[in-house]
Amino acid sequence: MAKGDNIDQIIDHKLFTEDDIHEMCVRLGKQLTEDYAGKKPVVVGALKGAIYFLTDLTRQMDVAHQLDFLDVSSYGDGFESTGKVKIVSDLVTDVKDRNVLIVEDIVDTGLTLKFMKEHIMARGAKSVKCCAMLNKEARRTTDVELEYYGSKVGNEFVVGYGWDFLNMYRNLPYVGVLKPEVIQHYANK
Ligand code: IMP
Ligand code: MG
Repeated sequence: MAKGDNIDQIIDHKLFTEDDIHEMCVRLGKQLTEDYAGKKPVVVGALKGAIYFLTDLTRQMDVAHQLDFLDVSSYGDGFESTGKVKIVSDLVTDVKDRNVLIVEDIVDTGLTLKFMKEHIMARGAKSVKCCAMLNKEARRTTDVELEYYGSKVGNEFVVGYGWDFLNMYRNLPYVGVLKPEVIQHYANK
């Protein structure tokens, strides 16, 4: 971050350091290497937030796979899911009869994941599972399985390492929590 971007003024504390993130990727990568051995999965990154996690995770996976992306949006610039999910950019790969692994940044209400899983199943995939870095399990409003995740988190709004605030700060190397007053300021607008 350049001087003058005032990161310290918006970040309350770090939730996961670069070392924490690396450990998560190593652990999950090992598990996925075992579970997907010989299955040649299609790894589907959920744009945009998951790309940072995706590149670190897949480099810990010793599994031949193909890569594609799906961009669905439900959030806008706010803090709460709107509940409505739509496709912004669709898959290019034919996933018929393929094992698909969605890589997601965070599963919150679960609406986005449910939508993506149904969308991919409808295209004839053999299996669709998800690996998310973070799991806001207590906030789930829909019944959807999250097969792999790095860590559970509470109801904090995280930024950095892919997570944005007003589409900024994704490139922080750590996961931070926004100061409550920052959230308050924008929530009242
Ligand atoms: P869901 O449909 O409610 O599960 O929302 C999932 C999406 O909400 C994620 O893919 C994120 O893009 C976004 N999201 C949920 N919690 C946070 C957060 O704390 N910071 C930034 N984005 C979040
Ligand atoms: Mg997302």
